Amino acid sequence: MRTPIIAGNWKMNKTIREAIQLVLAMKDELDAIQGIEKVLCPPFTALSAVKLLVAGSSIKVGAQDIFWEEKGAYTGEISPVMLKELCDYVIIGHSERRKYFGETDEGVNRKVKAALAHGLIPIICVGENLEENEAGLTEEVVTRQVKGALEGVPAHEVEKLVIAYEPVWAIGTGKPATPEGAQAVIGGTIRKLLAEMYGEGVARKVRIQYGGSVNPANIGGFIAQPDIDGALVGGASLRAKDFVEIIRMAAQVKSEA
Ligand code: PGA
Repeated sequence: MRTPIIAGNWKMNKTIREAIQLVLAMKDELDAIQGIEKVLCPPFTALSAVKLLVAGSSIKVGAQDIFWEEKGAYTGEISPVMLKELCDYVIIGHSERRKYFGETDEGVNRKVKAALAHGLIPIICVGENLEENEAGLTEEVVTRQVKGALEGVPAHEVEKLVIAYEPVWAIGTGKPATPEGAQAVIGGTIRKLLAEMYGEGVARKVRIQYGGSVNPANIGGFIAQPDIDGALVGGASLRAKDFVEIIRMAAQVKSEA
């Protein structure tokens, strides 16, 4: 069975001081919840402080991006070697990076390979935008993004990673997908594609999250779907009470299933 994973993507929010306050406000409660893997993804500047605060707890840390080279003249970039000291997970290919920073499927693929080569677990984000959704292109877009991200990645690495299906129109809008709609893409498109590419055994192991306006009131519906293995949470992960409640609800629904 796949252990569900819920990650908080803080995006470009929280100074170091604020990050410490947020972690202290939820650490003990999060740590006590079992059956769900819990990951905090602060900005690079707060990774070190957050890592120290959660040391010895069941809470893991992730970065929000990575560069594919190990070191060198790449001003402003952060390498997998540097991140390996600070975290276990790394979000790759978030739609905001694709939209504002020109990230391509090819770049995502290089980052995925670099992360895996250094023992970091990628959380690969895919998802269609509103226009694509309305034009009925969801399956086509998501298939292209998944295939692009995984190009040349061997099956034994694929089974470790996490994919986040995040329809762009649901991110930060307060208008989430329906649990059935998310299940249709996650089970019907993504896991099916993984089975075609790598076989059923691998496809069954990959954890696939839903992301986009997840909150304490709607997490239960998503996590109850057979192929949805957790969530990537943006806005609500900045509020200690909401993030704890999301994970508590998810653990409860899973334990009753
Ligand atoms: P949201 O963001 O929960 O604020 O919609 C999700 C994400 O971008 O990962």
